[in-house]
Amino acid sequence: MNRNTLIKEYPRYNKHINDVFEAGQTHIFKWWNEISPPEKKHLLEQIASIDFPFVRKLFNDSIQQTTRVVKGDMVPPQIITIPKDIFECEIAQKARKIGENALQKGEIAVLTVAGGHGTRLGVNGPKGTLPIAPISSKTIFQLHAEKICATQQKYHTCIPWYIMTSETNDLVTKTFFQDNQFFGLDPSQVCFFTQGMFPAVDFQGKLLMDSKSNVVMSPNGHGGTIVALKGKGILEDMKRRGIKNIFYHQVDNVLIKIADPVFIGYHLRDKADVSLKVVKKCHPEEKVGVVVCVNKNLHLVEYSELSRDEMCAKNEDGTLKYNAGSIAVHIISIDFLEKIHQKGESLPYHAAVKKVSCINENGNMINPEKSNAIKFESFIFDVLKYVKKGVVMEVVREEEFSPVKNMEGENSPVTAKQDMVNLFGRWLRNAGISIPINSQNNVIGLIEISPHFALDEEELKNKIGKNLQFNGFLNL
Ligand code: UD1
Repeated sequence: MNRNTLIKEYPRYNKHINDVFEAGQTHIFKWWNEISPPEKKHLLEQIASIDFPFVRKLFNDSIQQTTRVVKGDMVPPQIITIPKDIFECEIAQKARKIGENALQKGEIAVLTVAGGHGTRLGVNGPKGTLPIAPISSKTIFQLHAEKICATQQKYHTCIPWYIMTSETNDLVTKTFFQDNQFFGLDPSQVCFFTQGMFPAVDFQGKLLMDSKSNVVMSPNGHGGTIVALKGKGILEDMKRRGIKNIFYHQVDNVLIKIADPVFIGYHLRDKADVSLKVVKKCHPEEKVGVVVCVNKNLHLVEYSELSRDEMCAKNEDGTLKYNAGSIAVHIISIDFLEKIHQKGESLPYHAAVKKVSCINENGNMINPEKSNAIKFESFIFDVLKYVKKGVVMEVVREEEFSPVKNMEGENSPVTAKQDMVNLFGRWLRNAGISIPINSQNNVIGLIEISPHFALDEEELKNKIGKNLQFNGFLNL
């Protein structure tokens, strides 16, 4: 396609058409004469949203494998461990009081990142719409919504809920909430906003297309939250509502303790900018990022960027050296976000090799069997490099972490349901009810406890009688 002809046809896109030619990406105009005027307009709009020199730079960096962000000698971080004795329980109780106070004052918002494609899970639609509760089959979104609802009632407060989507799943997510009457929440407290998109390239750095008029674009990673919070006016909205700290979590964790007052309390007590929850890794290769310290600063190294030696490194007592596995639950202070925006700080991009469906040079669609593309994403936890004070709190995996990532096996809907049943079983057992378990420590039978009935073990104890008999099925 001739550059001048194109510019003559669409003079308004002069600069962007030149960008394409200068970047050597002219293959995206290959079918120009076959596509309709609206399709031409769409393609030009996409081109206008792409920073071509930046894409080239990221591609070059990825070939030289310079994308690992955390550099320097890593040591394990300081962690608030799970209380071991009465003294530590008292400290946790004090933190709880501080957190509860912030909740009562309406200073906490929840932010759920739900913009990912859920490629590994292979579901059709947003992950949050996946039915997951063991008996009622409530969806992940409904469970989160009910936890927020119940927490609001408990603390006589309002907890605004911000949900980050992406262009590809925004409409269907919003419609899902509307169709379900926001699961009992006030629609004015639920706010959706979209993150940015970024192009995928092949191993020569060429943009991929999945139709003759569409460049393959993917969500730009949950680091996109930082830019979107400012750019979409969300930070302003939060400030208007009196929010001081954001409880951040990923949509996929079905055991999430939303707005956990103890965690909020530690964060506030220590005047932290960002706080993180961690669990002990269950094996060296577990796909969780690890929290580490480099030059006295907290960092999170993603599992895909840890070397094999680092993954398996051991302490003298045989335990894993880098064992603080992130469950991607954070508290982020609004003041801190304001500061990084004022300073114009930005987050780096990480490259990942992926399988991406696209059209070949004949315009035919291909679904590759091997990885064929590089995607670029920024990660929210890279803000740690700007953090002066951060809190790392260890939690019990069985109580707080069961993500839905894969279709089957580890971290799948099957394990998530079982983990929920086991957690409810533990609550009941601690309340004096006999609950049978098998040799894998899984409850024999089905249990579901709605967040409206009890949010935690304490609430459950106060609501049920000791003479309750479990006959293999309990839906409260
Ligand atoms: C993620 C974390 C990992 C952590 C683990 C815990 C990253 C890069 N890694 O791994 O450190 O230990 O969870 O479960 O996050 N998302 C968006 N927009 C995007 C991309 C992702 O909103 O552009 C959301 C997804 O909807 C999902 C979450 O971020 O809720 C996690 O993304 P995913 O790519 O699945 O990360 P993991 O590999 O699971």
